[in-house]
Amino acid sequence: MIYLVVISVLFIVVILSALWITIPALFGPPSVPTRMNRIRKALRLANLQPGEIVYDLGAGDGRVLLVAANEFNARAVGIEVGPVQCVFIALRALASGNGDSIRVRWENYFKASLKDADVVFIYATSKETGRLSNHLKEQMKPGSRLVSISADFPEWEPANIDELELVFLYVMPPVIGSPATYLMKKAGDSG
Ligand SMILES: C[S@@+](CC[C@H](N)C(=O)[O-])C[C@H]1O[C@@H](n2cnc3c(N)ncnc32)[C@H](O)[C@@H]1O
Repeated sequence: MIYLVVISVLFIVVILSALWITIPALFGPPSVPTRMNRIRKALRLANLQPGEIVYDLGAGDGRVLLVAANEFNARAVGIEVGPVQCVFIALRALASGNGDSIRVRWENYFKASLKDADVVFIYATSKETGRLSNHLKEQMKPGSRLVSISADFPEWEPANIDELELVFLYVMPPVIGSPATYLMKKAGDSG
């Protein structure tokens, strides 16, 4: 009897792990989490304020949402295509006492409404950011901020860059340019 229980539990764990990996792989970048310090730096760079709404596009295990809610007193919304991740995030939010401040939506971020976002966080590849730029430009309200981990938005000039952690900040509507035009302006200002 005990063998049956152990085998059933193992079977469920294997199935859930496989779903965790395979479903997102059909849509975009794999589930590689951002380091905690990098998340804090990015949210500070975005000047996330208490009560503001932050979206994490591709919320993974929900760590960005938890940092935003616990350390910045923000309201956090995760958009995640993986159903197992969505259930995990919802349980994690409840278990940590953040049931009111964290929401998760089982959605494809290429189609998600982002109209009420004050800050959008994304950790994706440059191929993904390039494909997302029109959607973000249409959806994000003027003055809202976008922070991107590692990948820049090829046609836009960042408003700031954390060069150590490689985090790019953009303020909507985006300015046409590139990291190079940002660095040239910065060099001009300081010289
Ligand atoms: C690199 S991980 C980042 C996880 C989390 N944001 C973090 O920084 O720790 C990318 C996440 O995006 C999700 N994802 C990939 N393509 C997506 C899509 N089109 N719509 C929504 N989520 C997606 C994956 O399931 C994965 O959890």
